[in-house]
Amino acid sequence: MVLTPGDKANVKALWSKVGSHLEEYGSETLERLFAVYPSTKTYFPHFDLHQGSAQVRGHGKKVLSALGDAVAHIDDIATALSKLSDLHAQTLRVDPVNFKLLNHCFLVVVAIHHPGALTPEVHVSLDKFLTAVATVLTSKYR
Ligand code: HEM
Repeated sequence: MVLTPGDKANVKALWSKVGSHLEEYGSETLERLFAVYPSTKTYFPHFDLHQGSAQVRGHGKKVLSALGDAVAHIDDIATALSKLSDLHAQTLRVDPVNFKLLNHCFLVVVAIHHPGALTPEVHVSLDKFLTAVATVLTSKYR
């Protein structure tokens, strides 16, 4: 997935609005993921998944912080997320289909909170960026 200079600028500009709400948007993303696609809950048998759960909030913040790292290193996402890529492929073995589901839920959360910012052009750029992140995180399966 090749991000153009315009895509990168769009994602960075959007992140300037998202970056101060990591825990809120992250936990909303996960709550949607677990509610809309319940099979994703099988990866979190050790979590309290009730609404408002401290574990979901904490994990949501971690996931969005990692996305923020990818935004900060948008020219080399593979290096920035290398350790996370090892974790998801080798230890967690999350089925790659789930990344599309998570990305979709995050897009919905962004659309709800920043409807004006998510123009069709920014929507495309965010979609391409999230796909690039998912490609990195699912690149080491064997
Ligand atoms: C752990 C990021 C997608 C399941 C993590 C951690 C981060 C992260 C930062 C914590 C790593 C650590 O503590 O060292 C991401 C990002 C994703 C993504 C950026 C995609 C944009 C997914 C998906 C699933 C998943 C789609 C499954 C539905 C897990 C699980 C853990 C984890 C089970 C371990 C949780 C724990 O025991 O604390 N992820 N993740 N991840 N992720 Fe992901």
